Amino acid sequence: MAADGAERGLFIVFEGGEGAGKSTQVALLAQHLAATGTAVVLTREPGGTPTAEAVRTLLLAPATEPMSDWCEALLFAAARADHVAKVIAPAVATGQVVLCDRYVDSSLAYQGFARALPVEQVRTVSQWATGGLVPDLTVLLDVDPALGLARARDGNRMEAQALEFHQRVRAGLLALAAQEPDRYLVLAADRPVPQIADEVRTRVAALQSATPPARGATT
Ligand code: TYD
Repeated sequence: MAADGAERGLFIVFEGGEGAGKSTQVALLAQHLAATGTAVVLTREPGGTPTAEAVRTLLLAPATEPMSDWCEALLFAAARADHVAKVIAPAVATGQVVLCDRYVDSSLAYQGFARALPVEQVRTVSQWATGGLVPDLTVLLDVDPALGLARARDGNRMEAQALEFHQRVRAGLLALAAQEPDRYLVLAADRPVPQIADEVRTRVAALQSATPPARGATT
C-alpha cells in the first residue's frame, strides 16, 4: 500500500537502440492497458515535463558546439530528476501504470558504455536524480544497430554517432539485462510488431496479477 492508502502502481520502461521500435510498442501497450480499464501514464525521456522537454531540445539538437561528456550526462540526469519528481513517482504512488520510453539504462548505455564515462559514476548520478526509483519491468527491444539506424529517421545528435558507438550501446543494454534477468524482458526487435506487442502484453499481465513488488523511492 502506498502512503495515502492507494495501491502502488507499476513502473514499466522500454529501452533499446535507435530504430528498435520502442515508441510503437510503448504506444500499443498504453492503448491496450487503457482499453482494459487500467489508468496509464505514457511518457518519455529525455522529457515528460516542460523543463525536461526544454533540456531535451538542448541535448538532441544538432550540435552548434561539441558538448562535454559530463555536461551531457548531467543534463540527462537533470531532466530525469524533474520527470521522476513531478510525473513518474506521483503516478506510481497513486496506483497508475507508468510506461516510460527510456530511463536510467539509456544513460548507463549511452553516456557510460558508449561515451566511456565510468558506468558506476553515471549510475550514482542517476540514483540522485531518481531517489532510487527502479522500474518493476524493463522491456529491452534488441536490434542490430545497422538495421535500427536504417529505420531511425529523426537524425538527432545521438543518432549521428558512428555505428561502433551504437554497438557499444547495444552491448551495454544487453549486459544490464543479463545482470537482472528477472526484471528484464529482452525481445528481438527485428520481428513483426504484433508478435512483439503480444509478448509484452503477456508479461505485463503477469506482473499486474502478481502482488506489486515493494520497490520504490528509497528516500
Ligand atoms: P529520441 O528521438 O527519443 O530517440 P529514440 O526514439 O531512439 O528513443 O532521442 C533520445 C536520444 O537520447 C537517443 O539517441 C538516446 C539518447 N539518450 C541518452 O543518450 N541518454 C539518456 O539518458 C536518454 C534518456 C536518452
